Amino acid sequence: MKNITNAQWIKSPKLCKECEIRYTKSFEVKKDLVSASLEATALGVYVVDINGERVGDYVLAPGWTAYQKRLQVETYDVTAMLKENNTVSIGVGPGWKGRYFTGNERCAGYFLGVRETALIAALTLEYADGTSEVIYTDGSWTVELGKFISTDLYNGYTYDPNFVDAEPMKAVAFPHNNKILLDRQGEKVIEQERIPAKEIIITPKGETIVDFGQNLTGYVEFKIKGSKGETAVIHHGEVLDAQGNFYRDNLRSAKAQARFVCDGEEHICKPDFDFFGFRYIKLENWSDEVKLENFTAIVVHSEMKRTGHFECSSEMLNKLYHNVIWGQKGNYLDVPTDCPQRDERLGWTGDAQVFVKAAAYNFDVERFFIKWLADLRAEQRPWGTIPHVIPDLFDVDENSSAAWADAVTVCPWQMYLSYANKDLIAESLDSMKNYIEYIENSSVDGIWCKSWHFGDWLNLDASDVGKCDIGTNKDLIATAYYIYSSEILIKAMELCGEDASEYKTKRENSIIAFRNMFMENGRVKPEYATQTAATLAVHFGISDNAAETAKQLNDLVTECGHLKTGFVGTPYLLHALTDNGYVKTAYDLILREDYPSWLFSVRMGATTIWEHWDGMREDGTMWSTEMNSFNHYAYGAVADWMYGDMAGIKVDEKNPAYKHILFKPYTDSRIDWVKASVDTRNGLVKSEWKRENGKTTYIFTVPEGCTATVTLPDGEYEVGAGTHSYIV
Ligand code: BGC
Repeated sequence: MKNITNAQWIKSPKLCKECEIRYTKSFEVKKDLVSASLEATALGVYVVDINGERVGDYVLAPGWTAYQKRLQVETYDVTAMLKENNTVSIGVGPGWKGRYFTGNERCAGYFLGVRETALIAALTLEYADGTSEVIYTDGSWTVELGKFISTDLYNGYTYDPNFVDAEPMKAVAFPHNNKILLDRQGEKVIEQERIPAKEIIITPKGETIVDFGQNLTGYVEFKIKGSKGETAVIHHGEVLDAQGNFYRDNLRSAKAQARFVCDGEEHICKPDFDFFGFRYIKLENWSDEVKLENFTAIVVHSEMKRTGHFECSSEMLNKLYHNVIWGQKGNYLDVPTDCPQRDERLGWTGDAQVFVKAAAYNFDVERFFIKWLADLRAEQRPWGTIPHVIPDLFDVDENSSAAWADAVTVCPWQMYLSYANKDLIAESLDSMKNYIEYIENSSVDGIWCKSWHFGDWLNLDASDVGKCDIGTNKDLIATAYYIYSSEILIKAMELCGEDASEYKTKRENSIIAFRNMFMENGRVKPEYATQTAATLAVHFGISDNAAETAKQLNDLVTECGHLKTGFVGTPYLLHALTDNGYVKTAYDLILREDYPSWLFSVRMGATTIWEHWDGMREDGTMWSTEMNSFNHYAYGAVADWMYGDMAGIKVDEKNPAYKHILFKPYTDSRIDWVKASVDTRNGLVKSEWKRENGKTTYIFTVPEGCTATVTLPDGEYEVGAGTHSYIV
């Protein structure tokens, strides 16, 4: 940042909660210009135009951070856009600042008391004669209402191309702190892909629907003429109902509409301050002929380099993998969200931490997480609790939920494993310790029993009681997560050269307490025995007899024939089975196409991962209108098993970022071949296998400067850079 910290925060004297406020300033460039740079940010989201042209490609700038403490500034090089007489015009919409979570009035404090937006900017002009000039936001800027006459992230927008504010005014000062400003830390959100409309559908109800063939996050760019004075409306939806009609009830209170005030002239329109989660749009009041070429879906998400690829002989698994990728595209929009469509779209910590490992195979997410984790640390309470969503809206101070708050340990650790980012570990150490100490203070004799938890969210153990948090015992989950998170803290401390012996002792005591309370003879006690309980006991290394607990897990799965796990158990279920010899059971689960299973949604035509195993039932009806997202990546965590166990590409935590690779694929007679690759910081890592004539051929690629341990049914091999083939 150069000059923005000396600028003044400005706002409109008119309070308009859900509209675009346009700030303009005209200026002259009288001397020879060498460079011109604009620094800008807003409380809300903004777009900049200079002399009528859009500046930069940043969408929904400045993104979403813990606004009271951290706000990102973007610097744009605008040298080439300036002439002698210029006008800079900045539109600000409420964006994330304007939303509030349905029914939660406590979060009003989040909006600094009033739901209004504000702007700060500085334009620095450097001249050939060595002088410079800075144009700051101040009371000389003009403010008026913009053409987005309404805009709200949940409800959508109304655009009126002919709207002109009859009463432009001068901006007034907005009292705010410039110390919260920082250079952009995360990835920019930009328009990533353009998807043409696939099909026009007239539903049994007579609705006109455009299908883009893919559930996605972004917005529609449409061409429209329309009859003068009419407001054309686009409704967004993810699925069609059982009868094939448009369905939007799962968006709950989010109206998610794009409204356009027609003037009889042709226009091309897309939003500046909104996004939607959708596959289908329903057109209402559309007086034009509906033509496919007039509608394009624009996919919007954070910039992330695609790093992972996976393919195998099962088309169904390939579709599942495709759905995971689209789940990540749709929910990595500046913060890792639960879902992109309904009145939620929040940075749920639990969802983020269960998916982070898969995410880091799929895309390079280091910078994305550096920013979000800085917000997480900023939002952590002094006594250690981590809010359920980051940035925080709920204002729940006293409680952290196991498996949600553990994002504080799990996510930085994954950045270390995938990218060898040790700095982030060092930066996160205090917050990890603080959290672990909060847990210890909420525990009695090593059992974390004094906090409220989401539990094994959406599991099927108790499907008759609302399918949410009832099922696996919550103290069991919480204590298991404490053991897991404190293990990460211990490793992180040792990495930073600190003595972790105190935490080790407490962790060991907790392991003993867990075994005494929840286990006997290497098995989870009958009253606690669920798939998730056994999975955690095995996968987090708590059981003193992993073989026996894994056998119990295998029995629990095979007896009922399917998975019953929720958010907590699902990410580790297949790992716990494969790691202990139950490879066939793991494949049975991943290849199962009936409800409940991953492939059930694929068979039902899903193009993203569903929130519920039965989001839509076999007959096309929905489990509920409540909490039923069709783009919720949490169960997509299974992709880390596809890369790590099917293809067998794993990172060695003693030598991270794939400097040393662990290749250990698990094959199955129902899969003929698998191919996967990860474009790592150390080069391209590849694994493939193929079964033919009773033999399996394995081919592994180790990048230059890296080494690998290859583990196959016939033995273990240490190899260096190059391509290595084996026939077993
Ligand atoms: C979200 C979840 C989240 C949960 C908390 C839901 O409404 O969509 O994904 O983790 O609440 O349990």
